[in-house]
Amino acid sequence: MVRRPSSAAVDLRLEKMMAKKRMTGAAVLTFEHISAVVRAVGLDGFMDDIISGLRCAGTNLDTQATVVLERSGFQYSKPDVGLIEWMPSMELGRAVGIKTVGYHPSNPTQRRLPSVLSTTSIHDTATGQLTALVDSTLLTALRTGAASAVVTHILALPTAAVVGIVGAGAQAVTQIHAISRVRQIKRIIAFDTDPAVSATLAARLPLAVPVTVVETAAEAIAQADIVCSATTVDIGAGPVLPDHGYLPHVHINAVGSDFPGKMEVPVALLRAALVVPDDPPQCLREGESQQLELSELGPSLPDLISNAAQYERYQQEITVFDSTGWSLEDLIVAEIALDHARRLGIGMYTDLQSTPADPYSPYEDVLR
Ligand SMILES: NC(=O)c1ccc[n+]([C@@H]2O[C@H](COP(=O)([O-])OP(=O)(O)OC[C@H]3O[C@@H](n4cnc5c(N)ncnc54)[C@H](O)[C@@H]3O)[C@@H](O)[C@H]2O)c1
Repeated sequence: MVRRPSSAAVDLRLEKMMAKKRMTGAAVLTFEHISAVVRAVGLDGFMDDIISGLRCAGTNLDTQATVVLERSGFQYSKPDVGLIEWMPSMELGRAVGIKTVGYHPSNPTQRRLPSVLSTTSIHDTATGQLTALVDSTLLTALRTGAASAVVTHILALPTAAVVGIVGAGAQAVTQIHAISRVRQIKRIIAFDTDPAVSATLAARLPLAVPVTVVETAAEAIAQADIVCSATTVDIGAGPVLPDHGYLPHVHINAVGSDFPGKMEVPVALLRAALVVPDDPPQCLREGESQQLELSELGPSLPDLISNAAQYERYQQEITVFDSTGWSLEDLIVAEIALDHARRLGIGMYTDLQSTPADPYSPYEDVLR
């Protein structure tokens, strides 16, 4: 089980963080603040909030009022393979959110850092002012799990109980946790190319479910009602999942394909399935759907959510959620964390940007 501080220690840390509290200016939420918020709300409650937030965004999506731009970034191979990307979205007349996310798959083994590290900045569109800076490493993992839960809830059999995991790192933890909020998981079967990672999966989970560690992806998927693939497979080295040997009703959350040439699901399996891309243009460019034509895609994530009843008939069939990470998810999860933080008095609130009394006098504070 995940080690947690005693509630007395949590209270003390919360008290310290709330001391000398000033709640004006830009909100800065560090990892400590995010952890304090999640502990105060409860891990399950916080995950449920994100699941509801994503459902609500999908149901009420107004593409005139919500703009999600193509993500872009820098890719490099020195000192190791990595990339830093920016993921922008805007709620017209209100806020722009930009997540910067680093992906460095050698981090865990070489630097004891997560593969995926990220920060979200939020700007007020009336003034351009920065209103929040939020550590988003945990939030990214949580919202990625929540998105899979939203789709799993619609497309997996209500009785689905066995989850097959391929790639048992950080995202696998939130995939399992999120799915446990929408289906009663009775067993997990896990495979990772690094046996040291699959061996610790059970200890990293916030729920007590038996985990069987296996030696191949084929064993992990064979009895699974739901499969989650969340690997750091190299560009050009995929797919990682077998193309046969699944239960006829399997639902697959494919989370790891998020770059051109990076794939987890074989094209034959995609062609036999209803494929739900989270963001169709992005999925065609860098998700599993890069192996497909536009005409072969099923509903997008928001379309699926808004027409859930129509798609429940696919619970009997093979379905794949092509999860590449929809930028709007990052604004939603950051704002959920910020709402709780403000309510609980957690976080730093400070003027990060210059606000001279005379807006025409940039030297005002310097010459004073
Ligand atoms: N879709 C999204 O929104 C989203 C969000 C976050 C991360 N991701 C992606 O999810 C993937 C996993 O991220 P993470 O944070 O869990 O990384 P991680 O480094 O914590 O874990 C990845 C695990 O995959 C294993 N692995 C690599 N190749 C494998 C293979 N062929 N078969 C089985 N296991 C294999 C590694 O040994 C490692 O343990 C990454 O590719 C990342 O880019 C996607």
